[in-house]
Amino acid sequence: MTEERAMEAALRPKALSDFVGQQTVRRQLSLVLESSRIRGTASDHVLLSGPPGLGKTTLAMIIAAEMNAPLRISSGPAIQHAGDLAAILSSLTEGEVLFVDEIHRMSRPAEELLYMAMEDFRVDVIVGKGAGATSIPLELPPFTLVGATTRAGLLPGPLRDRFGFTGQLEFYSTEELELVLRRSSAMLEMNVASEGFAEIAGRSRGTPRIANRLLRRVRDWALVHRVDQVDRATAAEALEMYEVDERGLDRLDRSVLEALCLRFNGGPVGLSTLAVLVGEETETVETVAEPYLVREGLLARTPRGRVATDQAWRHLGLTPPDRHPDSLSG
Ligand SMILES: Nc1ncnc2c1ncn2[C@@H]1O[C@H](COP(=O)(O)OP(=O)(O)O)[C@@H](O)[C@H]1O
Ligand SMILES: [Mg+2]
Repeated sequence: MTEERAMEAALRPKALSDFVGQQTVRRQLSLVLESSRIRGTASDHVLLSGPPGLGKTTLAMIIAAEMNAPLRISSGPAIQHAGDLAAILSSLTEGEVLFVDEIHRMSRPAEELLYMAMEDFRVDVIVGKGAGATSIPLELPPFTLVGATTRAGLLPGPLRDRFGFTGQLEFYSTEELELVLRRSSAMLEMNVASEGFAEIAGRSRGTPRIANRLLRRVRDWALVHRVDQVDRATAAEALEMYEVDERGLDRLDRSVLEALCLRFNGGPVGLSTLAVLVGEETETVETVAEPYLVREGLLARTPRGRVATDQAWRHLGLTPPDRHPDSLSG
């Protein structure tokens, strides 16, 4: 994980103009930031949502950089007591950007403190204990909260409503991922042919983090096998070795589909049962594997549970079961 972290930091675009894809979010955000620059105030609070690896943390850093403002980084799981949050808030400077990653995992009391801070730039600090406790209102300098979440649906309405702008990040197209890879390969001083980029991009599940990770694995493979230029065949052979198939499904994705098809004849199966079967947390299955499988038309979420589509059966090399003509098909 340390190599991944260091690499990620190195490969992160620093300006909005270097950020590949996400045109809608990029345009909207650029307008929000430009307006606050003209008005000379801190920008509205920004919520970024989407599956892991699509660029939420990168965008938070870009927001601070574009606003020429200092950045404070925290996360929902790190803010368990209202006091933790009060300490952070009361030390913010004017215009500072506070990034709270995984904001849906913040504790309830902290969340309520955050409402007032976001809206009125004020917190009530409780001093003392028991009957003698008093609450002292504390003014905060205007700041910008940037929240990131993989599950916008889990955020309570009152919190969601206090963000002036919500950017919903989407999976990237293969062409966009090729651009990400071109940029990264130049920084890694790799020699990759166009079709090599296409091959890696096609296996990257629409996700820049995965594209960069696969690129490093291909680099390792090429280095050890003394390949000067990575072409399509080299990239494919290297990635087969890491069990990333031609559609980008990795071991977790395939075990989700296999559990559905082989153990439950295609479903429907509840999320928690599915998670137990593949030996993962429900949140991992729901936020990491499922969004891509749904987008690829391999899995469907129904009120009665998860269902494998006909395409999923075929992808596993299996014959889809005969079903009633009006039931689900893929
Ligand atoms: N639009 C983009 N353009 C170029 N690189 C990107 C883009 N989005 C993400 N990345 C790369 O992918 C990696 C993961 O991005 P990150 O912002 O950490 O994702 P998230 O916070 O959504 O999980 C980063 O190293 C970054 O270099
Ligand atoms: Mg992140």
